[in-house]
Amino acid sequence: MREITTPPPLDLDRLIDDRRTRVIVCCGSGGVGKTTTAAALGLRAAERGRHVVVLTVDPARRLAQSMGLTSLDNTPRPVPFPDRGHGTPGGSLHAMMLDMKRTFDEIVEAHADPDRAAQILANPFYQSLSSGFSGTQEYMAMEKLGQLRRADEWDLIVVDTPPSRSALDFLDAPQRLGRFLDGRLIRLLVVPAKVGGRAYLKVLNAGFGMVTGVLTKVLGAQVLKDVQTFVSALDTMFGGFRERADYTYRLLRAPGTAFLVIAAPEPDALREASYFVERLAQEGMPLAGLILNRVHRSPAARLSAARSLAAAETLAADGQAGAPHALTIAALRLHADRMQMSAAERRFAEHFTTAHPHVPVAEVPAQPDDVHDLAGLGAVGDSFATE
Ligand SMILES: Nc1ncnc2c1ncn2[C@@H]1O[C@H](COP(=O)(O)OP(=O)(O)OP(=O)(O)O)[C@@H](O)[C@H]1O
Ligand SMILES: [Mg+2]
Repeated sequence: MREITTPPPLDLDRLIDDRRTRVIVCCGSGGVGKTTTAAALGLRAAERGRHVVVLTVDPARRLAQSMGLTSLDNTPRPVPFPDRGHGTPGGSLHAMMLDMKRTFDEIVEAHADPDRAAQILANPFYQSLSSGFSGTQEYMAMEKLGQLRRADEWDLIVVDTPPSRSALDFLDAPQRLGRFLDGRLIRLLVVPAKVGGRAYLKVLNAGFGMVTGVLTKVLGAQVLKDVQTFVSALDTMFGGFRERADYTYRLLRAPGTAFLVIAAPEPDALREASYFVERLAQEGMPLAGLILNRVHRSPAARLSAARSLAAAETLAADGQAGAPHALTIAALRLHADRMQMSAAERRFAEHFTTAHPHVPVAEVPAQPDDVHDLAGLGAVGDSFATE
């Protein structure tokens, strides 16, 4: 018989009750439930007496509304939550939606004098970089986390991560953006604007002239000029950018930080989760465990798919397809489907646990409906309790 590895259970209540836990980062590939999990963890931690802020990225509109996040103001707002009578009173919950452009603008404003800041903010290249460049959202999520930590108003920060295709983007994209801003191409482009006026023409060598010539053709003179002005203006801020990124990187590796990898019980999501777990280990970042989200389990697991299907066939063969039988047959087939799905999910999860036998795992059942309000978040949170 095949050996089945049983992973250690992930005790989420213990994680959020532990006062040493100061930052929880929810990672995972697109659409697996990062935002839902982050919000549910935040609510549950607040119910259990902690002072929590949840940083969400692109929450679904209804969920945002239910948390009172109707305006994009880029600052935490208090979320009143009902006392369900089984928590520890005294906790509080704040939530915010990340506004990446606003966050970027605020860094510029904090680091450049007002004239220069205005010049950068009005620059078309900056505008497209701050609202669209791949990696900006990841960078700004990290930046915001750093700001919240420095503000020191909360004893627990729960961070959601951007809807990237790959979970690794969260770790890689900020660096990519940094490299881009600091890259050789950009450095090259800065030269003319820095030297200024006509004088620079004299110091240009032929090679450089050719590069800008080609770029001017490709990008158009105006774009190139925008990039040049932007980068030379930004140049004074590089130190600031670097410093902030380093601070956040250290924060992610600090003992009070815990990473949770979220995955749906599907091959792609679990493969991504595997990569991410390996990468966290390489980076020396503390992994708390894996959350398998939207797991299908049957309350009547003792009735196997095969027996359920056989019973349905027998009833159908009876030929009495009257209303009561039709319903029973449908229910038996549905049960069989669910049992098969559940078995497939277990197999996928076993691949992961065989590769990472020491990673603790928690399962969150698929809710009957989308999770779009505090009651739904509460129900997800209740499933964090270990029996
Ligand atoms: N356990 C669950 N049961 C039922 N529905 C769920 C569950 N978890 C999440 N959902 C639903 O799945 C959808 C995606 O969830 P969510 O937005 O949290 O994922 P995400 O990982 O943040 O996605 P993205 O990568 O796009 O940001 C939402 O509609 C949410 O309500
Ligand atoms: Mg999300």
